[in-house]
Amino acid sequence: MSSLQFGPPRPRLDLRLSWAALWAAVLVSLLRGAVRAAPPGNATVPAAFAFGDSIVDPGNNNGLATVVKCNFPPYGRDLNPGVPLGRFSNGRVPSDIFTEKLGIKKFLPAYLDPNLKLRDLLTGVSFASGANGYDPLSAKSTSVLTLSDQLDLYTKYMESIRSAVGEERASAIASEAIYIVCTGSNDITNTYFGTPLRSSQYNISSYTDLMASSASSFLRELYGLGARKIGVLSLPPLGCIPSQRTLHGGPGRGCFGSANEAAALFNSKLNAGINSLKEELPGARLVYMDIYHPLLTIIQNPARFGFEVSTRGCCGTGNIEVSILCNSLDDPETCKDDTNYLFWDSYHPTEAAYRVLTNQVYNKYARQLL
Ligand SMILES: *[C@@H]1O[C@H](CO)[C@@H](O)[C@H](O)[C@H]1NC(C)=O
Ligand SMILES: *[C@@H]1O[C@H](CO)[C@@H](O)[C@H](O)[C@H]1NC(C)=O
Repeated sequence: MSSLQFGPPRPRLDLRLSWAALWAAVLVSLLRGAVRAAPPGNATVPAAFAFGDSIVDPGNNNGLATVVKCNFPPYGRDLNPGVPLGRFSNGRVPSDIFTEKLGIKKFLPAYLDPNLKLRDLLTGVSFASGANGYDPLSAKSTSVLTLSDQLDLYTKYMESIRSAVGEERASAIASEAIYIVCTGSNDITNTYFGTPLRSSQYNISSYTDLMASSASSFLRELYGLGARKIGVLSLPPLGCIPSQRTLHGGPGRGCFGSANEAAALFNSKLNAGINSLKEELPGARLVYMDIYHPLLTIIQNPARFGFEVSTRGCCGTGNIEVSILCNSLDDPETCKDDTNYLFWDSYHPTEAAYRVLTNQVYNKYARQLL
């Protein structure tokens, strides 16, 4: 095994790392001169990273021992063949669309995808994990990655990038990249309103305090690891997503008011937390990105945005199916043309809706990040 060593002998040489460094050195020389695209303004963004939940998870849950997965049909049915499954939609998710708009690449891959090349790593990955939340209990009770697991993976990622391209370039990637953070929905719909785990101990006011304080700690740690340009998505109007209408909206499947109020309350605390972090963290560009109001407008006026159906999903009956419940057994009922639907399953928008929403968010906030 020692025949793999090269250079002067070093104590406790990690063979995997040294092997990675070797092929990395070869690849890096090939990558020099690779074209970097230009977003608005003249800034070039070397990479994008995503943290959070299913809205920006491209398949990190595929290999985890969790039931929260979607790497089977009809999920991903509008993706090109060859794009790994695991996105919680029919096609691309907001992190993909945002990354494309930044001029980086069309798909932001899952960090846990075993087939990533150095080239994929250098332009960014997603660490997000479906069912994650700001409340660590949300991820723990579903056996998915907590935010702290995601930061650990990011740390590992940075170590391998450092050994591949050197300290200086690795730090530049960290500080010039755009970070998208999107989580918290599961805390409210599942952990708080779906189980007694938290609602027996907390009211909405104290629970959203817990979430907001976890959000601030997370952002502080991410900054501590080198991130500077961080966009944080607000919660959507959770009470109006199809599953919440079905579970809590009465016979008329109206919006679940308490979930909307909880989301709006959390959003105001998140926004306040971000504003005080901006004072605390020098050089940080932290941007609170509202999706509550834009999404509510689309839900209430679907036709204005090219949609016919906004109160149930495309998959199956559209009232409750999500993750393992949305599968090929639902085929007879699953809609044929998902471009008419705002929601793909009972929880997640279609790619068509994600495109409308991400365009709005990008146009409104990207300049503040770049
Ligand atoms: C972009 O470059 C042009 C020409 O070099 C310059 O006039 C302009 O101010 C730059 N814009 C930004 C946002 O830096
Ligand atoms: C929520 O709980 C906190 C602490 O347990 C308490 O101080 C507060 O009055 C409660 N708020 C409401 C609206 O019940």
